[in-house]
Amino acid sequence: MRKPHRKLGLAEARIEHARLAAEIARNDERYYREDAPIISDAEYDALRRRYEALEKQFPELVTKQSLSKKVGAAPSEKFAKVRHKVPVLSLSNVFTDAEVEDFVARIRRFLGLAADAPLAMTAEPKIDGLSCSLRYEAGKLVQAATRGDGYEGEDVTANVKTIGEIPHVLKGNAPSVLEVRGEVYMRRADFAALNARQAEAGKPTFANPRNSAAGSLRQLDPSITAGRPLHFFAYAWGEISAMPADTQMGMVHAFKAYGFPVNPLTVLCHSAAELLRHYRDIESRRASLPYDIDGVVYKVDSLALQDRLGFVSRAPRWAAAHKFPAEQATTILRDIEIQVGRTGALTPVARLEPVTVGGVVVANATLHNEDEIARKDIRVGDWVRIQRAGDVIPQVLGPVLEKRPKEAKPYRFPTKCPVCGSAAIREIDPETGTADVVRRCTGGLVCPAQAVERLKHFVSRHAFDIEGLGEKQIEQFYRDGLIAKPADIFALAERDAKAARKLKDREGYGETSVRNLFAAIEARRRIPLNRFIYALGIRHVGETNARRLARHFGTFAALRATARAAKEGSEARAEIDNIEGLGEVVAEAVADFFAEKHNEDELDALLSYVTPLPMEEVASASPVAGKTIVFTGSLERMTRDEAKAQAERLGAKVAASVSSKTDLVVAGPGAGSKLAKAAELGIETIDEEQWLKLAGATD
Ligand code: IVH
Repeated sequence: MRKPHRKLGLAEARIEHARLAAEIARNDERYYREDAPIISDAEYDALRRRYEALEKQFPELVTKQSLSKKVGAAPSEKFAKVRHKVPVLSLSNVFTDAEVEDFVARIRRFLGLAADAPLAMTAEPKIDGLSCSLRYEAGKLVQAATRGDGYEGEDVTANVKTIGEIPHVLKGNAPSVLEVRGEVYMRRADFAALNARQAEAGKPTFANPRNSAAGSLRQLDPSITAGRPLHFFAYAWGEISAMPADTQMGMVHAFKAYGFPVNPLTVLCHSAAELLRHYRDIESRRASLPYDIDGVVYKVDSLALQDRLGFVSRAPRWAAAHKFPAEQATTILRDIEIQVGRTGALTPVARLEPVTVGGVVVANATLHNEDEIARKDIRVGDWVRIQRAGDVIPQVLGPVLEKRPKEAKPYRFPTKCPVCGSAAIREIDPETGTADVVRRCTGGLVCPAQAVERLKHFVSRHAFDIEGLGEKQIEQFYRDGLIAKPADIFALAERDAKAARKLKDREGYGETSVRNLFAAIEARRRIPLNRFIYALGIRHVGETNARRLARHFGTFAALRATARAAKEGSEARAEIDNIEGLGEVVAEAVADFFAEKHNEDELDALLSYVTPLPMEEVASASPVAGKTIVFTGSLERMTRDEAKAQAERLGAKVAASVSSKTDLVVAGPGAGSKLAKAAELGIETIDEEQWLKLAGATD
């Protein structure tokens, strides 16, 4: 949430309000009608937030035409949704040679490979287009879907069928079910020609080949897509009934045999040095390639090893994107605005004179934090160097001192929250005596910015994920006093029934949308425990730690009882601390959360509506699901990390020490005191071979 940084007068605010309205309308048009956004989603949201902040400060500005009165101005759901059976993954990024070496070393370590043991990896260009998943049944193309959020994409089958390079019927002996994934892209020359045609016809042009490919694919009328020169490279797969190969390279060859274009610059490498050589080779050809690429993707070649390596969140451990260096530009820093986040953190955001960096117009950039601004002496009015790398938020690198205007004054970071006016402080670490880099608003629940951000987190995709209740609606409902805390969401229908001004009578709503919203809320009254915990927004408890807590405690009541008792030095604190992957900082944050009376009250209110269910398990069929396992001694067939990851994947909890709660001890050679303790407590103990059998088994 954001407030104008400077104090504006009404007249000035009116001008700014009108300017923002025009800018938002222009971007809406580009986004919804033309599929050609010229700013990032984050930048767009920033415009909306600033607009809304102005209206909040100057209610006189709100009229019937006000953009903030329109809910979901977006033409709803252009395409049918498609749920991906196998999620579409993302890639983690590396930027430097050292990070590439690290990436390879990490894989070797995880797999327990000796430095001289062979490890083959593929390297191929990272195509700057949009990924698409193509489903073939009995050799025929039956469905094509965009990536969407990785779980659910849009059905673009009719449009994909117009892409000449994509086979409608597969050649050769393809598996009966095959989802081929790859990149739809437009060549640079075709993009330029298309833009020229668009300009000539007085139609809007596209910012870059990627946007123009996306815009061309997401046309409601497939005949428009047919007129756009789109291409495709296959590089991955989703559901598949039988594997045609056991290596990445083999899969790519198989795709080629079925009739798909595959990238000819895909090679097999055997060391980090070789990967880097290929990276440089591709980088040197970048400008002469007919299409845009933004890096090189490395993948472990053996599919068996890919399986063993698995995933961290949504990115595979066995792959990485080596991005090309960032592009830079200079522009004027118009203002520094302070955003207040969920935990009260004050984040400075640079408002820039819009400038094109690597094909994208940038109007906002991150300034990191107070110390960075001071260290670089960045002043409002300065010319600043900015940099944009891939899809990360652009950053301000520093001022161009030669161009500094005389009147530019050093920036004074606010010591009061710009939203609620509470003191904003930097906590001092009691051990080191140093101040936290982040300045935080001390307003807690009285700070509207924090309250709204917490609500947004609560309904976000990996938390309650309530359809029809997104960030914009939360902001609006909060502003109108309909929702102040999470429990209010579940009381919405009840209260609306009694309210004088009904939700259905609001602009942007009607009977159906309100009914759908209430149904979506009702559907979330039962929710997996891990999501419930994540939604609470406890510091240091993201998705992964929420899962760990859910797995360990099994029920919310159990977590709550332990967390309440988790005073410093207590056994309860040690129990949380000891959960594999958590540790002291998380244990303290969990204890602190439950020690706050207002959190406890809010939980009571929430639990009167919501029932947390046992957590979503990936593989509950495994005999080790739900068991607490301790690994001790050395393992020979895999590393300790790999064994842990494997156990967690199967739904087991891994603990660091043996206690009466341990179900199973896996002991390798050299096991000592833990083995003795297990024997003493009568806990089942097995060796590595038996563990592998157990891990491979299902109920
Ligand atoms: S592999 C785990 N290979 O990059 C494997 N992705 O940042 C999943 N992309 O969503 C992706 N070229 O759209 C892969 N040669 C390539 C790629 C590539 C472009 C895109 C893809 C993906 C994104 C991840």
